[in-house]
Amino acid sequence: MTEAADAGNDSFATSEAMRSSWLPVARSSEVAPGPLARTVCGVDLVVFRGADGTPTALPDRCSHRNAPLSGGEVADGCLACPYHGWSFDGGGRCVEVPSSGPGATVPPKAHLDAHHCVDRYGLVWVSIDEPRTEIPPAPYDDDPAFRRINTPVEVWESASTRMIDNFMDISHFPWVHTGTFGSAAERIVAPIEVGDLPDSFVGYAYDVTADNSTGGATTSGEDTDTVHRFMSTGFVLPFTVRSTIRYDSGLEHVIYLLMAPIDDERSYFTFIVWRRDDFATPADEIIEFDLAIGAEDKAMLERIPGPLPLGNAGVVSVQSDRPSVEWKRRFVEFLGAGAGTRAAP
Ligand code: FES
Ligand code: FE
Repeated sequence: MTEAADAGNDSFATSEAMRSSWLPVARSSEVAPGPLARTVCGVDLVVFRGADGTPTALPDRCSHRNAPLSGGEVADGCLACPYHGWSFDGGGRCVEVPSSGPGATVPPKAHLDAHHCVDRYGLVWVSIDEPRTEIPPAPYDDDPAFRRINTPVEVWESASTRMIDNFMDISHFPWVHTGTFGSAAERIVAPIEVGDLPDSFVGYAYDVTADNSTGGATTSGEDTDTVHRFMSTGFVLPFTVRSTIRYDSGLEHVIYLLMAPIDDERSYFTFIVWRRDDFATPADEIIEFDLAIGAEDKAMLERIPGPLPLGNAGVVSVQSDRPSVEWKRRFVEFLGAGAGTRAAP
């Protein structure tokens, strides 16, 4: 096992590489204006909107006596602490200490360092430290032929490493997805060649015959028992998987599966659908099928304890695991020298 893989098994979630990555923590519509408590990479945050409406993420720990700011209230773009009312603006500056009276000097150490925080694709993204990754590209978002459908941000009791391993894997379809599309899926997985896909994704393209009789018809737009799907599945580091589906009818259904590690064993999970169709079917009906598929993955993954072993010990891989093994190889490189570096308490 490489040194990096060893170190990565220590704690991937709190590594420097993860702390320098953009991670989605909430829906934009949930932060209106906040505050919202979130934990990402083991760091407790409070998320709210400042005076200009942009989201901000501050440590969820008041500089005065360390009360969680997420229990406070936002007024005029400032967050007031629930303990003694110290007030912080969107940049983390302490702008008021009520007990000192109006105009009193604020101690310089009262100010908080804001983390990096932006809205993109209907989600609020945070990078704990200076970001070294880009938010994954999604050209569909600027294409009027596509509509975007966001889904709730859920907490899964599963490591982000387990989740991406699952989302890069098709050999579980006939076993896990029997309640949705899996019953018609092939058990045998043809050899997979992993390579570059458009928009910086790495993965593979394939054809499948999917069951279309148990709710899939709403997604596929066809009313046959089975449908032919031309698909691709790929990842960008650290934790985004894109699945593209094109039906013979020309309809396109693109899903971004997004994970953010809360810690080494829990994750935020959400997915976004971009869809080129006639816009006729209501969004709720479109995502109902994908939500049911996600629930099947969640039920399986939450039975597997701990993070995915990042070295060669502890798991056995076969040819159908090539895509997730490739993700793992690149992720260990990505963790690099910063792997296992725990955040300061
Ligand atoms: Fe926040 Fe005192 S702990 S104002
Ligand atoms: Fe699955």
